[in-house]
Amino acid sequence: MRIGVVGMGNVGLVTAACFSHLGHDVLGLDVDVERIELLRKGQMPFFEPHLEHLVREGIDTGRLRFVLETQALADECEAIFICVGTPPTPSGEADLSQIERLAWNLGSRMDGYTLLVEKSTVPVRTGDRIEKTLRLAGAGDVEVVSNPEFLREGSAVGDTLSPDRIVIGSGSERATKRLLELYDPVIERSGCEVIITDVGTAELIKHASNAFLATKISFINSVAEVCEASGADVETVARGMGMDKRIGRSFLRAGAGYGGSCFPKDVAAFEALGEELGCDMSLLRAVQAINDRAVGRVLDKLRDQLWHLKGKRVAVLGLSFKPGTSDLRESPAMKLVVNLLDEGAEVVAYDPVAMPSAKEVLPPQASFAASPLEAAQGAHAVAVMTEWKEFEELDLKDLRDALDLPIIVDGRNLFDPRRAADLGLTYLPAGRPPVIG
Ligand code: UGA
Repeated sequence: MRIGVVGMGNVGLVTAACFSHLGHDVLGLDVDVERIELLRKGQMPFFEPHLEHLVREGIDTGRLRFVLETQALADECEAIFICVGTPPTPSGEADLSQIERLAWNLGSRMDGYTLLVEKSTVPVRTGDRIEKTLRLAGAGDVEVVSNPEFLREGSAVGDTLSPDRIVIGSGSERATKRLLELYDPVIERSGCEVIITDVGTAELIKHASNAFLATKISFINSVAEVCEASGADVETVARGMGMDKRIGRSFLRAGAGYGGSCFPKDVAAFEALGEELGCDMSLLRAVQAINDRAVGRVLDKLRDQLWHLKGKRVAVLGLSFKPGTSDLRESPAMKLVVNLLDEGAEVVAYDPVAMPSAKEVLPPQASFAASPLEAAQGAHAVAVMTEWKEFEELDLKDLRDALDLPIIVDGRNLFDPRRAADLGLTYLPAGRPPVIG
């Protein structure tokens, strides 16, 4: 099938590359000229495991092309996926202006039957608005369906080719059939579940899923606060809870909180949407408040150990919002660096992949090291903010020897407290009893 994908960001580029890998002919569209030129050369605008290989494969087979003109999609494609950004407005609602512009733009150029597929995360009822706009713009035979994505950065290719489920929100059999055809190779190889429902319900499945995962994280972070106050161990509490199949083990890792381009934006947008509809969204307000406190708790521990932060040298290990990605958006680690600098600390940061982009956005006072141990050299404390495998594999003895003061604040609970105690370290994990060396 001939497919168009609008928006070459984390979702759109992965969708385009995976569909071309599955044998479809794909046109990837973006308004960013530099990004399109980079992609045409097979180079990646961001780090995502396995993506470069699929993009190069698509270019070499001629099945994946990158364009700058909407007209090419309107002329050639049987299905067009909308993967443009829906960033938050200052009040938390999703800013849908990019989607609206696209609908006017496409609507005035389409004549034959086209299926428009909403993949960007949008508030319920956005599909109706897109369809209305397309018709006002002059589109003839067009249908809008919702097909939310559930891919995670860092494992986006695997999540797309072997998803847990495919959700199709559609108002017509013709549209559903076409989307099922498109996904046939994925359904065949992964045996995943398929849910077919109306557009609004599909839109809600996405928002509710992200809001629930964020709630799990804030729930365990709230438990971590109680553990710290009572001397209990959140890791064991989470393990004990997770053994109950109804609860499950995933997304119960306590620590410096969630970040990224999805959870913070989607939870705020879901809250704003519910309120607009007259619903009580206090649960999601609490989820966000707990998450906002998580970085502050790391900062409090550093302050508590170092008395004050002015002139203190702090090594920050990890800058991306999670391992396996260079994405810094809403990263708890980046918030910590900015807070430390604001309080007059000297920050030396290290991240295996995110340093080039961090250098562009952090204040010039932040400095960077070539390895975790170099960052820790002569520091008064180290804060671990992203759970990269490289940090997990560090020998705590080497870390202790590099530090000026043997203090580790572990925002991701990577290390064994007994080993820290044996080495005479002061080790402050999240929601676990502290080790005071
Ligand atoms: C998330 C969802 O997991 C995807 O299903 C969804 O498709 C995507 O948003 C989206 O809407 O596009 P992603 O933002 O890539 O994916 O990252 P996650 O792996 O979900 O992690 C989000 C944040 O939660 C990270 O900062 C991570 O460190 C944090 N987290 C995760 C915890 O603090 N504790 C946990 O137990 C799990």
